Amino acid sequence: MEFSTKVLPPEKDKTDCLVVGVYEGKKLSAAAKAVDDLTNKAITAVMRSGDINGKTGSSLMLRKLEGVLAQRVLLVGLGKQDETTLKAYREALSTAFKAIAATQSASASVHLTQASVAGMDGEDLLEHAVLIAEEISYKPPRPGMKTSKEEAATLTKVTFVPPAETDAKALARGLLRGVAIAHGQNLARDLGNLPPNICTPSYLAQTAKTLARSHKLKVTVLEEAQMRKLGMNTLLAVSQGSRQAPKFIVLEYNGGGKKKPIALVGKGITFDTGGISIKPSSEMDEMKYDMCGAASVLGTLQTVAELKLPLNVIGVIPTCENMPDGQATRPGDIVTSMSGQTVEILNTDAEGRLILCDALTYTERFKPDAVVDIATLTGACVVALGSVASGLFSNQDSLADELLEAGVKAHDRAWHMPIWDDYQPQLKTNFADMQNIGGRMAGAITAACFLARFAESYPWAHLDIAGTAWKGGSEKGATGRPVGLLTHFLIGRAAK
Ligand code: BES
Ligand code: MN
Ligand code: ZN
Repeated sequence: MEFSTKVLPPEKDKTDCLVVGVYEGKKLSAAAKAVDDLTNKAITAVMRSGDINGKTGSSLMLRKLEGVLAQRVLLVGLGKQDETTLKAYREALSTAFKAIAATQSASASVHLTQASVAGMDGEDLLEHAVLIAEEISYKPPRPGMKTSKEEAATLTKVTFVPPAETDAKALARGLLRGVAIAHGQNLARDLGNLPPNICTPSYLAQTAKTLARSHKLKVTVLEEAQMRKLGMNTLLAVSQGSRQAPKFIVLEYNGGGKKKPIALVGKGITFDTGGISIKPSSEMDEMKYDMCGAASVLGTLQTVAELKLPLNVIGVIPTCENMPDGQATRPGDIVTSMSGQTVEILNTDAEGRLILCDALTYTERFKPDAVVDIATLTGACVVALGSVASGLFSNQDSLADELLEAGVKAHDRAWHMPIWDDYQPQLKTNFADMQNIGGRMAGAITAACFLARFAESYPWAHLDIAGTAWKGGSEKGATGRPVGLLTHFLIGRAAK
C-alpha cells in the first residue's frame, strides 16, 4: 500500500472511494459538508433517513453520487462532535478500511485525518491512520500454500487529506513513522503467527541475521556450548528437554555514537508445553505465541533502524523450546543461574523467568542506560488486565512513567503494577536462594519480583504481554504489540 498526503477538494477528486466523517446528531464534518453541497444535499438526506447515525464505528457506502467525480463516498461515524478520542478515531479508520476492502476500490482519499483528537497533532493522526490501514490489510504468512500472502489486496493507493495547519515536514514525518512502526509490527505478527515447527529458535536466529544484513545491525548468536561456558544454567534447564538447539541472539543498532545503550530483552519460547509440569491440551497451540516478546524486540529494532533514531539499542533474545522428555528438567531440580544465585525449579511451566534471568545478567556487560524486558510471562497477568493493557513493572518510577506515556501515545497501553519487597517472601524455599514460583496469589507480580532479583544493577522495567501479544478465538492472530509502545519510548529517549 502506498500512502501520501494531498490537499484534495472533493469536487476535483477522481478517487475510487472518498471517505468523510459524520457525527452524532446528524452533524457533518467539513469534508462531508463539501460533498453535501456538491451533491444537492445527498448526505443530509441520508443522515435524516437514519441509515447512518454517526456513532463511532457506523458507516454507509454510497455509490455514484450525482455531482462528485469519486466512484464512491463512504460516510464514517466519528461519534460526538468536539470529543473525538484516539480510540474513536482509530475505530472510525478501522471501519473505513474494512468497508473499502469489501469493494473493488484501488484508491481512496481519506478525510478522517482532519478530525481533532485531544493530545494528538497532525503528525500523530497520520501515524495512527497508516497503522490502522496496515493492520486491516495484514495477512498472516501461509507456509506451504501456493497462494502467497501478498495476493489480492485491491486497495493500493491511499491519500490522506492532511489535518489543518500541519506543515509538509510534519506530514512526511507522520507517514514515515507510521510506515516504519507498521513494518516492525508486521514482522512481529508474522513471527508470532508462524507455526512452531517453522518458527524455531534457529528460525529466530536466522531472522535476526537477515534483519542485521538488511538494516546494518550487528548480530551475534551464541550457541549452546557458549551458553554453558557463560553459566546460563537456568536457560539451559528449560531447553534441555527439546530437540531444538537453543540460541542466544544479540542485535546491536548503533545510531547514537557514544551514548549508553538501551537494551530490550525478549522472551523467545518458540513453544511452551509446560515441560514436565505439562499444560492442559486445550488451546495449547496458542503457546506458539510464547515468543512474542522476542518478536517485538526484532520488530522494534527494524523500526528503530528504519527511523534512524539517534540512539544505541541492543536487542537480547534468549530463545528455546519448553518440552517434556527423558532429559527434561524435573520439578525439584536446583540450578545455578549465570548470576550465581540458585533456583529451585518447582514448576517447569514457569520457564520464561528462567531464560530471562540469565539474559538479564548477560545484559549487564553493555552497561545499559535502561533495560526493558518483554515477555508473555503469566496467565495471572491476563486475569488481572485482560487483553487491554500490558502489565508494567519497574525498579525505577521515572522509567515506568516514560513507558506508560509511550503506551498512551501509541494506543498500546500498559498499567503500572507493584513489585514491593513485601511480595518477595513468596519466592522463599528451604533449599535454594529462591524457587521459581510464588504460589496462587499475585502471580504476575511474583514473576516480576523473581526477575527483579537479576536486574539490580541498572534501571529496569518488565512488560508482561501475555494478554496483549495475540488474540484468541475466531480472531486468532498476533497483534504486533508492544512494538508501538517500545518505539515511542525510544523516540522519547532519542529526543532527550
Ligand atoms: N507462557 C506462559 C504464560 C501464559 C499462559 C501466557 C497463558 C498466555 C496465556 C508461561 O510460561 C506460564 O506457563 N506461566 C505459568 C506460571 C505458573 C506456573 C507460575 C502460568 O501463568 O500459569
Ligand atoms: Mn510456561
Ligand atoms: Zn511460557
